[in-house]
Amino acid sequence: MEKFYITTPIYYPSGKFHIGTAYTTVLADTIRRYKKLRGYDTFMLTGTDEHGQKIETVAKEHGKTPQEHVDEMAKMAKDLWKLMDINYDYFIRTTEPRHKKAVQEIFEYFLQKGDIYKGEYEGWYCMPCETYFTETQLVDGKCPDCGREVKLMKEEAYFFNMKKYTEKLLKYYDEHPDFIQPEYRKTEMINNFIKPGLEDLCVTRTSFDWGIKVKSDSKHVIYVWLDALTNYLTALGYTQDDDELFKKYWPADLQIIGKDIARFHLIYWPIFLMALDLPLPKKILVHNWIMMKDGKMSKSKGNVVYPEMLVERYGLDATRYFLLKEFPYGQDAIFTPEDFVNKYNFDLCNDLGNLLNRTIGMVNKYFGGNVPNYKGRINDVDAELEETVASKISEYENNMEDLHFSNAIESIWGIISRANKYIDETAPWTLAKQEKTEKLESVMSHLVETLRIVAILIKPAMTETSNKILSQLGINEEASKEYDTIKEFGKTTSDLKVIEKGEPIFLRLDANEEIEYIKNKMKE
Ligand code: MSP
Repeated sequence: MEKFYITTPIYYPSGKFHIGTAYTTVLADTIRRYKKLRGYDTFMLTGTDEHGQKIETVAKEHGKTPQEHVDEMAKMAKDLWKLMDINYDYFIRTTEPRHKKAVQEIFEYFLQKGDIYKGEYEGWYCMPCETYFTETQLVDGKCPDCGREVKLMKEEAYFFNMKKYTEKLLKYYDEHPDFIQPEYRKTEMINNFIKPGLEDLCVTRTSFDWGIKVKSDSKHVIYVWLDALTNYLTALGYTQDDDELFKKYWPADLQIIGKDIARFHLIYWPIFLMALDLPLPKKILVHNWIMMKDGKMSKSKGNVVYPEMLVERYGLDATRYFLLKEFPYGQDAIFTPEDFVNKYNFDLCNDLGNLLNRTIGMVNKYFGGNVPNYKGRINDVDAELEETVASKISEYENNMEDLHFSNAIESIWGIISRANKYIDETAPWTLAKQEKTEKLESVMSHLVETLRIVAILIKPAMTETSNKILSQLGINEEASKEYDTIKEFGKTTSDLKVIEKGEPIFLRLDANEEIEYIKNKMKE
């Protein structure tokens, strides 16, 4: 069985996660589920990035020790992923002893190899980003990443010799055109950071305590990014006695990150791996951000949307659907309450919900709930429906492989709208009056089969709805795992009996009321 190792960034446990933060994880979970459905042996990693000055400061503000603080936050993250049905295989915490030990060993190895050397650092330090910048990197004298104030600081420190690997990295980029997605992110790295001359990276701090100490020089704390990036290896047992998972799953097949952490993952991370003589991840997907109409989400602006609120009020699948559908590939998405409610009412309630309701209603009305067995293409439009289904399935697969998630959802909705049109074209209510039984039977079997296929296709994205559809159609939920059965229309189900009265899977929302509701919640 082919393996598929997928990672999300490990999250800073500094506060509650908003829908932007949840996006990366929903994406990773969806692709993992898809790969599993397609027969891969999958492993998904997520976790929390628990060291650094920022955590130390936030813990103090809450009157807690850093360890107490990160324990609470890691629990909060796990609770959220449970609520969002995120099926990770391992949740790494960088305060785990085995991770700390491995990071210390990696550091010593770099030292001994000469990739890390001791020097003195002076630079402009951004505390929230925990990053030093050179004068020229500052934007209007402020942090180029977050726009906040920076401080001039000087300290004895260790440096990683990035210059040694610059050429090798460029060559790697060149020889592996699929390594970075979308490709323009690679160009950005080359133009903004590599061409101007890659600086050696300062990889230790002495200004605070909350981190992993350098084994051979314990007044130095290892830079949080060197500590954090290696989680992708240490979680699998790298440098540890039990490294079965590492041997099996490394290199990662896909690493998903947000655009703000591209530099760390596209430059430093590959270089660290080169220095360790390890293969690089096969692909890194850099996604954009969920923005609000007035810019970034922030508590002070009163525009933060929390996933818990959406899940509690509108259900998990509506939330996951929105997140996956909203992002055009390689661009930012804008969240508006109007858009969320409209997508719910139009895409989920009208298009999908009604297709299921109408189908169940008609099978009950015309055939007492017994689904007529598929007998091939009887009506003129049967062939067209089947062909659309087949072509949209292959379009969906290509989109999933290319990581174009929003388009993949569109491919499924292409089937749904074709099926709705098919009902209007075949007008089953007229066929029933004319006693055209064979034709009417064909319409019902086509609709049920199309819905079965839709249920399987949406399974990675909308885990609950998929099962609800199948159970209303009288199909065992286990069938949602049988992906290959969708390749041959109508050949795998017979003698089905649909539910007598199908519950609507999405209840129509009062748009104005719900838009107000979300807006008020954003201000809380
Ligand atoms: N701890 C680092 C990652 C270390 S990985 C070795 C970190 N953590 S984070 O909690 O700040 O961010 C986690 C992820 O959430 C990042 O991929 C980041 O891009 C993403 N997002 C944070 N805000 C976001 C949006 N508004 N929209 C989409 N993703 C966003 O960075």
